Amino acid sequence: MDLKEIGIEHVAIIMDGNGRWATEKELDRTAGHAAGEHALSKAINWAIENNLKWLTVYAFSTENWTRSSEEVDFLMFFNRDILIRRREEFHEKGVKFNFIGDLKDRRIPEENKKLMKETEYITKDNEKLNLVFAFNYGSHKEIHNAVHKIAFGHYFYLKLSAWLFTKEHIEENFKNYMYLPKMPNPDLLIRTAGEKRLSNFLLYQLSYTELMFIDTLWPDFDENDFYNVVEEYKQRVRKYGNA
Ligand code: IPE
Ligand code: IPE
Ligand code: MG
Repeated sequence: MDLKEIGIEHVAIIMDGNGRWATEKELDRTAGHAAGEHALSKAINWAIENNLKWLTVYAFSTENWTRSSEEVDFLMFFNRDILIRRREEFHEKGVKFNFIGDLKDRRIPEENKKLMKETEYITKDNEKLNLVFAFNYGSHKEIHNAVHKIAFGHYFYLKLSAWLFTKEHIEENFKNYMYLPKMPNPDLLIRTAGEKRLSNFLLYQLSYTELMFIDTLWPDFDENDFYNVVEEYKQRVRKYGNA
C-alpha cells in the first residue's frame, strides 16, 4: 500500500487501553504498557513499509501525572528504556525522531530529557519517516506556550517591529510558534480502546482530520486494524467546508 498515493501523509494515534488489557488478564497495569511496545514497533514498521511520512503517537499526556506514582515512574522508565533498546534499529531504517510536549518540566527525569535530545540529534538527518512522540504533551499547554512566545516577542520587539505582530501575521504564522512547526496536520487520527474523545491531543492540528475510533485495545493493535482504517479513510470525502 502506498499511503502517499492514497493521500495520507500523517497518521496520529492515541494509544489507549493498555490498563484495560492488563486488567482483563489480571495483570498489573504496567504490564499493559509493556505489552504496548510490540504494537508500537509494529506500527512504526508498517508506516515505513507503506510509505507514510509522519507518524505521531501520544505517549504521555500532561494529565497523566495524576496517575499513581508507581505508574508514572514506570512510564518514565519505560519511555527511556524503549529509546535505549529501539532507537538504533529505527535509526538504521531511516526514522527521524521528534518529541513534542513540555519537555522542560521538572518532573521529567534528567535521563529522559538527555535521551530525547540525543535521539533527536542522532536521527536528525533521516528522511524515511518522521516519528513524533507526544511526551508530556497537552494541546492546551502547546497553545498557551505559543501565545506566550507571541506576547513576549511583541513586548520585546514592539518599538522596532510592531508591524510583525499584525492579526494577519499571527494567522499566517501561528504554526511557527507551536512545538514542531514543520509537522503537517494529521490526515487520519486513530484512537484505540473505544473512547470517543481527544483527551487534549493536537486540538489545533486535528481541525480537518478524519477521526477513527476503534475498539481494539492498544496492545492488540495490528496491521489488520491499520488496513481497516485506511479502507474506511478511502470511503470518506474530505470537504474542508466546500460544497
Ligand atoms: C494508554 O493506556 C497509555 C497511556 C496513557 C500512557 P491507558 O493506561 O490509558 O489504558 P486504559 O485507558 O486505562 O485502559
Ligand atoms: C490519552 O489517554 C493519553 C495517552 C494515550 C498517552 P488517557 O487514557 O490518558 O485519556 P483519558 O483519561 O481516557 O481521557
Ligand atoms: Mg486510557
